[in-house]
Amino acid sequence: MPDKVADISIGNLQPGDEWLVHRLWERANSQSQGSIGGHTWGVRSLGRHIDRDPSLALWKGGDLCAVILYRKQGELVEIDLLATDPNHQNQGKMLALFQELIKKNQDVNEIWLELHESNTSALAFYQKVGFQKVGERKDYYGKGETAYLLSLTLS
Ligand SMILES: CC(C)(COP(=O)(O)OP(=O)(O)OC[C@H]1O[C@@H](n2cnc3c(N)ncnc32)[C@H](O)[C@@H]1OP(=O)(O)O)[C@@H](O)C(=O)NCCC(=O)NCCS
Repeated sequence: MPDKVADISIGNLQPGDEWLVHRLWERANSQSQGSIGGHTWGVRSLGRHIDRDPSLALWKGGDLCAVILYRKQGELVEIDLLATDPNHQNQGKMLALFQELIKKNQDVNEIWLELHESNTSALAFYQKVGFQKVGERKDYYGKGETAYLLSLTLS
């Protein structure tokens, strides 16, 4: 996807964007069918992540539509936060952002993340882009709440 099409732009998050990311995350969380996971993202922890680690954001006009916060360790990318604002879901926006993640990280051979077992819409998204379940952690999000470990191998 070109960097700017029909008022849509993709770029890094900047210091100060943590408030917008927090709002998007809270909205995505409250409207999600399954549990997004146990990690509660506060504005401060988001700010620290944006300062230290890479991120990608998709904007339409002035609206923040979708975000991916991740860490890179050698040839591995670990996704920490991935969400689309409910007003912008099911329009291919995360697919576009995820393609940009892969384009930007061509030296990477694996993308990895944890997912709450009840989060079926996110699981459908991850399977669509090629992730496979490689393990699970029982009680990871609390008693009886399992995390799936998902991995995408890149050639
Ligand atoms: C998962 C999520 C990021 C998908 O974002 P999105 O921008 O709506 O996704 P896209 O429109 O790019 O969807 C791409 C593909 O993913 C799959 N998909 C996305 N949402 C889906 C849903 N609710 N149900 C089934 N499949 C879905 C579809 O295959 C879709 O392709 P298609 O439209 O051609 O069928 C979004 O639902 C979200 O923010 N959920 C809450 C946050 C979350 O759970 N994050 C993951 C925590 S690890």
